[in-house]
Amino acid sequence: MIGGAVKQVTSKRERKVKKILVMHGPNLNLLGRRETDIYGKVTLDDINHKISALAGELGVSVDFFQSNAEGELVSKMQEAIDTYAAVVINPGAYTHTSIALRDAIAGVNIPTVEVHLSNIHKREEFRKTSLLAEVAAGQITGFKVDSYLLGLRAAVGIISS
Ligand code: DQA
Repeated sequence: MIGGAVKQVTSKRERKVKKILVMHGPNLNLLGRRETDIYGKVTLDDINHKISALAGELGVSVDFFQSNAEGELVSKMQEAIDTYAAVVINPGAYTHTSIALRDAIAGVNIPTVEVHLSNIHKREEFRKTSLLAEVAAGQITGFKVDSYLLGLRAAVGIISS
C-alpha cells in the first residue's frame, strides 16, 4: 500500500503541463508586410496560432513574447527562470549582434532552440554568424513557419528526455 501511495504522487507530478516560452525579436511583428519575398505573407499571429495548435497536440503550454528592444528580450529571458522548461527564440537581427542576449541564454541555463524563417547561411555575409548558436541547444533555419514548429518539437524532445 505504501508503494501505491508513492506511485500516485509520482504520476501527479508527471501530469504537470510543461511551459515553453516562444520569443520573437525585432521586426517580426511586421511579418506579412515585411520583405515578403524573403519571409512570405504569413503574419506573426498566424505563426503563433500554428505553434499553439501544435503545442496542444504535444501536450505542452506556450506563451508568446515579441519585442523590438534588446533589453526587453534579455529581461524576459531572465524572467523565464523557474517558469519555463524551454525557450524557442527567433532573435531576428539580434542573432548577429547581441552578446547581451547570448549571455542571458547562457546565464538562465534553460534549453533554448534558435529558429529562423529564412536560411541565414544563404543570405548576406553578416547574417551567417549567430552569436547565440553556441549557447543554444540547436539552430533551425530556413523552413519558414516550419522552423518554429520544428523548434517546438525539438524543445519538447529535450524536456521530455
Ligand atoms: C531572421 C533572420 C535575421 O537575419 C533577420 O534579421 C530577421 C529574421 C529570420 O527569421 O529569418 O529579422 O531571424
